[in-house]
Amino acid sequence: MPAKVVVIGSLNMDLVTRAPRLPRGGETLIGQSFTTVSGGKGANQAVAAARLGAQVSMVGCVGSDAYGEALRGALLAEQIDCQAVCTVEDSSGVALIVVDNNSQNAIVIVAGANGALTPEVIDRFDAVLQAADVIICQLEVPDATVGHALKRGHELGKTVILNPAPASRPLPADWYAAIDYLIPNESEASALSGLPVDSLSTAETAAARLIAMGAGKVIITLGSQGSLFADGKRFEHFPAPKVKAVDTTAAGDTFVGGFAAALAAGKSEVEAIRFGQVAAALSVTRAGAQPSIPTLSDVQAFKAP
Ligand code: RIB
Repeated sequence: MPAKVVVIGSLNMDLVTRAPRLPRGGETLIGQSFTTVSGGKGANQAVAAARLGAQVSMVGCVGSDAYGEALRGALLAEQIDCQAVCTVEDSSGVALIVVDNNSQNAIVIVAGANGALTPEVIDRFDAVLQAADVIICQLEVPDATVGHALKRGHELGKTVILNPAPASRPLPADWYAAIDYLIPNESEASALSGLPVDSLSTAETAAARLIAMGAGKVIITLGSQGSLFADGKRFEHFPAPKVKAVDTTAAGDTFVGGFAAALAAGKSEVEAIRFGQVAAALSVTRAGAQPSIPTLSDVQAFKAP
């Protein structure tokens, strides 16, 4: 039986334009292309975990519109269990994304139906959480729901991962004790710790602070610089595989989903980090959120250039 990963979080339809560069305030740019792509940090992490070997259940909400149908269909096509994906009377979540010629992006999200994922919905699908080996949450659904899900996952003795994305402020202090792995990027680590994070040494200081705040273990993702692991006893830097980036959208989600799938399958933390990094590196060589996420055989076939 493949290991079971449960993802609690957002589903968004991504409205993606490519432009020569990101627009400045008040500026109108001529874009080069427009595509509509299934995304949302929760759904992307679910797809990553499924393509990378786990049996996955998604807990979330979509709207009663065409995007909602498409978002659910994209997960079902990956054999992801959607019994806990509710349809509500609202618009589905959307993300407006601009990707520039340097493969950098800027994203604005509108929560829509993701806002209907309440603690009561989590309780209604408690059996789904009970069947998990690993539970993953992010921050594109209401804070009360995230806190509730983290604590319930911990109470059930599951491995609990929080990818605090997007984060612009500290987390509630009482969440930390429920988190086994906290996986922020540099700006999220800075927002959570209140410390600048712009180098390996500042990332170590921030990771130590987050562990002192109560997180079990911390992995700060550093983009092309790889990632930093901290467990309170040691730090380890994992350089990223070198690839030619096309679009970094969902690279963090691919890392989180891949790390969770590998951990759930019984790999060590070190193996799971390396596996997640190869998956994330492959994802940045392709455009879009879910279309860019590699399969297990893509990762196994990867050879560092
Ligand atoms: O992490 C990438 C995701 O962020 C996109 O798919 C978009 O939906 C936003 O949630």
